[in-house]
Amino acid sequence: MRSYVAQVHASTNMSATFAAPNEKPGAGAFLEAVKARRTIYALSKDSPIPDERIIEIVNEAVKHCPSSFNSQSSRAVVLLGAHHDKLWDFAKAAIKAVVPAEAYPASEQRLNGFQNGHGTVLFFEDEAVVKGLQDAMPTYAAHFPAWSEHAHGLLAFTVWTALEAEGLGANLQHYSPLIDADVAREFSTPESWKLKAQLVFGAPTAPAGPKEFKPLEERVKVFQ
Ligand SMILES: Cc1cc2nc3c(=O)[nH]c(=O)nc-3n(C[C@H](O)[C@H](O)[C@H](O)COP(=O)(O)O)c2cc1C
Repeated sequence: MRSYVAQVHASTNMSATFAAPNEKPGAGAFLEAVKARRTIYALSKDSPIPDERIIEIVNEAVKHCPSSFNSQSSRAVVLLGAHHDKLWDFAKAAIKAVVPAEAYPASEQRLNGFQNGHGTVLFFEDEAVVKGLQDAMPTYAAHFPAWSEHAHGLLAFTVWTALEAEGLGANLQHYSPLIDADVAREFSTPESWKLKAQLVFGAPTAPAGPKEFKPLEERVKVFQ
């Protein structure tokens, strides 16, 4: 069993073309998009961009986001129109079944906020891919579930940031496992696709709330 480093170095697929420094776009626009991405709950059913562009962004992100051993374990389902509304009806029914009756109105109000959005991206990780990696590389078996979660996080962040860079607002929700069975049935997802998160998006109708930052000196060390 070769180490991860040895495997990667032995890969024949290392002929990537590296652009000369003066052809690089620089990190400025990327970091501006990273800074501009916020959690936005106040959303309308409008969108500043066509649905085709939203779908293109999700496809680009799914294709290009990194994954351990290039396993490409992430999956996405884009819900628009009545499909988006249906998702949040499922969530309402699921929440209603588990919260005390007197708590439900507040939950329903929150869920109405998501349903008022333009659409939702469902993010999944394919557990069949993770199992395949574990079987093929037992040395790393214990790591693959976490690395799959990392891949999910990278994809969710990329889609979230990209949609907001085009003028949408978005927020990330986690209603698994309550909605998993309804989602699998309604959207015909394979059994091995494990639902991880729901990214709700729409035209922002109010800005993000304030955000506090811990001092960077406590979070970043530099040795130079
Ligand atoms: C892994 C992860 C899980 C999150 N889960 C939720 C969630 O379930 N519901 C929610 O409203 N926000 C969720 N958020 C949003 C965070 O609360 C938010 O990103 C954080 O407060 C920083 O605010 P910002 O997104 O505006 O920068 C999540 C964010 C991350 C990165």
